[in-house]
Amino acid sequence: MNDKTTARLIGAMVLGAGLSACGPSAPTPPAASTPGSTSMTRMERVARFPADLGPDRIDVADYPPRQRANYAVFADRCSRCHTLARPINSRISDRETWNRYVHRMQNRPTCNLTDADVRTIVDFLAYHSAERAHRWPGFDTHVAGLEARFREVKILQEKAVADESHRLGRTGEPGTQPAPTPTR
Ligand code: HEC
Repeated sequence: MNDKTTARLIGAMVLGAGLSACGPSAPTPPAASTPGSTSMTRMERVARFPADLGPDRIDVADYPPRQRANYAVFADRCSRCHTLARPINSRISDRETWNRYVHRMQNRPTCNLTDADVRTIVDFLAYHSAERAHRWPGFDTHVAGLEARFREVKILQEKAVADESHRLGRTGEPGTQPAPTPTR
C-alpha cells in the first residue's frame, strides 16, 4: 500500500470516527452466533479458531490519534489471510507475546510485513489489550462463550463435510463411490 492510500484510509477512519456516536470504544457485535443452534452462519462455516467467531473490528474513535493511525495499518495487514476477529478476540494481552505472534505472522511466506509494520502493529495490539481491561468489561466471559460455541461449530463442520461426501457419493461423483462389499 502506498502512502497516498494509507493517508486516504486514515482520513476515512478519522471521518468515520467523527460521525460515530461518542462513548466508550466497544467492538462491533459479531454476526449473530447463536449458542446451541444446529445451523451455521457463513462466518461459522469457515471458522478455524474460537476467536474467528467474535467481532472483526474495533471502534477506535476515542483512541489517541497515533493509535488510530496504527489501527489502520493493523486492519489492513492483519486481515489478508484471516479476519481481524482472530487477533481481536485473542486472550493475548501483553506486548511480549504480541511481538512473538506478529513476528510469526511475518515469517509466513506470503505475508510481506515490513519491520516498520511489525512495530506499528505490536504497538497497537499492546495498547489495545491493555485498554481492553476497562473498555471491554466481560472480555473473558465473551471469549469463554466463543470457545463454547466453537466446540459446537466443530461438530457441525464435521457433519457438513460428512453430509457433503455422502451426497457426492450418491450422485456418483468420480472417486467418491463407496468400495464394493466383498462377496464370498
Ligand atoms: C500470510 C497470511 C497471514 C497473515 C497476513 C496474518 N496471519 Fe495470523 N494466522 C495465519 C494462519 C495460517 C494462522 C493459523 C496458524 C498459526 O497459528 O500460525 C494464523 C493465526 C493467527 C492467530 C491465532 C494463533 C493461535 O494459535 O491462537 C493470531 C492471534 C493471528 N494469526 C494474528 C495475526 C495478526 C496480528 C496479523 C497481522 C500482523 C496476522 N495474524 C496476519 C495467517 C496469517
